[in-house]
Amino acid sequence: MRDLFDKIYKDKGPLGKWAEQAEGYFVFPKLEGPISNRMRFQGQEVITWSINDYLGLANHPEVRKVDAEAAAEYGSAYPMGARMMSGHTDLHEKLQEELASFVNKQAAYLLNFGYQGMVSTIDALVSKSDVIVYDVDAHACIIDGVRLHLGQRFTYKHNDLESIEKNLQRATKICEQTGGGILLISEGVFGMRGEQGKLKEIVELKKKYNFRFFVDDAHGFGTLGATGAGAGEEQGVQDDIDVYFATFAKSLASTGAFIAGDKEIMDYLKYNLRSQMFAKSLQSQLVVGALKRLEMLRTMPELKAKLWENVNALQSGLKQRGFDIGTTQSCVTPVYLQGSIPEAMALVKDLRVNHSVFCSIVVYPVIPKGLILLRMIPTATHTMEDIEETLIAFSVIRDRLENGTYKKLSAAVAASVGE
Ligand SMILES: Cc1ncc(COP(=O)(O)O)c(C=O)c1O
Repeated sequence: MRDLFDKIYKDKGPLGKWAEQAEGYFVFPKLEGPISNRMRFQGQEVITWSINDYLGLANHPEVRKVDAEAAAEYGSAYPMGARMMSGHTDLHEKLQEELASFVNKQAAYLLNFGYQGMVSTIDALVSKSDVIVYDVDAHACIIDGVRLHLGQRFTYKHNDLESIEKNLQRATKICEQTGGGILLISEGVFGMRGEQGKLKEIVELKKKYNFRFFVDDAHGFGTLGATGAGAGEEQGVQDDIDVYFATFAKSLASTGAFIAGDKEIMDYLKYNLRSQMFAKSLQSQLVVGALKRLEMLRTMPELKAKLWENVNALQSGLKQRGFDIGTTQSCVTPVYLQGSIPEAMALVKDLRVNHSVFCSIVVYPVIPKGLILLRMIPTATHTMEDIEETLIAFSVIRDRLENGTYKKLSAAVAASVGE
């Protein structure tokens, strides 16, 4: 037998092994100043492309005012306890009603955090005889929810209809024996690559197969659809989504989340979501803040219009310059380049220090080895100057990547980690 910690001393994990070179700069960077299109990083002003404040609400004066007033009135404790015990208020109910009406569902239920809420919604919806069918590129909260499931689960190839159908057939066979049902889970927008889930096509499959459809629309809510109700609205199938999830952590620039669907299903979840029954309710300060944000989402369509003006300018500018932005169908803007992890580090440093452009960098093991993904999140606060400066910077760093500048600069780092 060995000490439990032995493996940790020996192996820090695929990302942890980079801690010495990466921490504080590439991972756990400290962005300072008010959340906006330009913030400060290590004392330098940078154009910020890594924050999911899609509609620019995080630091909007009206939002800040309501947040401050709500904090003064309720503090950060109220209400204490879980919703079921002592953490329930009129404000929670009001927000639920407004959210349900906004996403066109009979009822909604608030979640104190999106991640845990997703995990326990999956947990509560299925029992051992049921089968879960879900996209192989699912967000970690879906994967963790599925991990709790004691019955069968199948992943389908990312957004691949043939694979979805094949797995629905497998699941149907099993359910015919167990007497269970099928839960199919997709994201509205896949947050890394920006593709929308094939919601319309999946809904079409309901004519052939018996399953319930659960959509995590973290990136679609507030950004897609005529009213901002998300990917279901955008694809004209909102009514056919059985359980709809969105977080407040992106378009609404806050904390918390919700699920929505038929009243009877929400009533069931209210009594069965372990992450809400055994954890503190969303505090009123955040509930009041979410009510204000939702009102702005409904009454200020100019925010979404400005967001999309920026998304279109950035994405078409990148394409015109020959960048590979994959197959995004949302605001999430990935830029794919070829190179090693040490080269990616040198490139990002150049972008930040010499061009004042701050975006997230994603490398292996999140994406295949040899690919560098620079992930950009345009928001309503960005300006055309931000976009123009960024496009110029991107052309420069691509030239340097291709002419081997970053390979030379990163040779010592590469040698030290055996790359
Ligand atoms: C697709 C998706 N689902 C769920 C979550 C979790 O939401 P929260 O930040 O509210 O925990 C996130 C991240 O925020 C996400 O990107």
